[in-house]
Formats: sequence, structure tokens, C-alpha cells
Amino acid sequence: MTKRIAVLISGSGSNLQAIIDAVSKKQINGEIVLVISNKGDAYGLQRAQQANIETQVLQHTDYDSREAFDKDLSNALIAAKADVIVLAGFMRILTEQFVNQFQDKMLNIHPSLLPKYKGLNTHQRAIDAKDSHAGCSVHYVTAELDGGPIAMQGITAIDVTDDAEQLAQKVHRLEHIIYPKVISWICDDQLTSIDNRLYFNSELLDETGFKLSLDDVQ
Ligand code: GAR
Repeated sequence: MTKRIAVLISGSGSNLQAIIDAVSKKQINGEIVLVISNKGDAYGLQRAQQANIETQVLQHTDYDSREAFDKDLSNALIAAKADVIVLAGFMRILTEQFVNQFQDKMLNIHPSLLPKYKGLNTHQRAIDAKDSHAGCSVHYVTAELDGGPIAMQGITAIDVTDDAEQLAQKVHRLEHIIYPKVISWICDDQLTSIDNRLYFNSELLDETGFKLSLDDVQ
């Protein structure tokens, strides 16, 4: 059965665009049924509207608790009958109760080679640490922030001349490849998460998931 995908955003939505494009090219065997933003001015909302996808704004500043916000978010996802929930630059911390409700169904993309650099300013932190490589990780969401099982990582070398902005651009290119790829595997029932363990074609995936290097796509 065609999977129903909901995408949660807070900003530009370039990852959302990559997913919209992959669906329209039939590289993802699924349907984006809803895009939700916690910010009314997120540019990603326009991207969704241009693709005739239903949008909803749940302005987090209208809520006086995380629990109340997450309750409405949960209701919207249930009403949309979402099978797969994709966090694409969604910059809200979710309550444990919400995360557990959607265990094995919710994905996030994070701009670092997890488990390194959870949280913010990931690229600057990788440069400051003089790391040789940086990248991004697509992982299932668990109650531990940026801590869930990793499905795939995109990797690029850090050049000595790279600043955080240049590195972000390289990593974004990888994000736009690996996120649609992972979603396509889920929609084809190749990748599954059971009790926060990932299986690819029924085989347990190793801890850091699949890898893609920017060198392989240039
Ligand atoms: C992406 O780089 C994503 O990895 C990051 O936000 C950006 C959203 O870009 N997510 C996080 O930092 C989550 N902790 P986009 O709106 O253009 O897709």
C-alpha cells in the first residue's frame, strides 16, 4: 500500500523540496499528505502549496506548554493517517510522550556525523575540532535528542578553506540525496524499524547505517 508521508518543517524546506521532487519523479513510492510548520512564515509552506500539498500551521508561540503543542501535532498526524513522519528542519524539541507515540515511524535529518555534534552549530564545531570529515545523518527519532538509530549518513571531506557556510552547502547537497533515498526504502518496505532496531531486507543494519560520500556523487 502506498505510504502516507507527513513532513514537519520550521524553515526553508529545501529537504522538503527534495522529497517533493523525488515523489513527483516516482523515486519515492509514497504520497505527501500533509506539511506542518510551527512557524507561519516558513518558506517551505510555499513549496508545499506550489506542489498542491495540504499545509497546516501550528504556531508554537500560541501554546503555553510543549504538551499542549504536541497534543495538537499528534491529532493532526493521526487525522492525516500518516504512516511516515519526516522531520525536515523541524526545530522543536518533542516531548517523550509524543516521540514514543510515533516510535518506529518518525525520521529526522541532522547536519552532523552522529553521534558527534548533537544539537546546534554542528558545522562550526566540526571545523573547530579540526575534523577531517563532516556530514549528515538520517535517523529514527527516539526520546534521546539526535540519538536514535541511524539509517544513513552522507560524508564529505572538510577542506582547510571551508567555513561553516561552505560546509553547510556541501552537507545540504548530501541531505537532498540521502533523505529521499531512505524514505524510498521505507515506502518500499525495504527498511523497517522494529523497537528502534533497523532492518534492511530483514537483516539487522549496523550501527551507523548506510554511507554515501560526496565524492561518489560529484
Ligand atoms: C538541515 O540542514 C537539517 O539538517 C537541519 O536543518 C536544516 C533544514 O534545512 N536540521 C537540524 O538542525 C535538526 N536538528 P531545510 O529547511 O532547507 O530543509
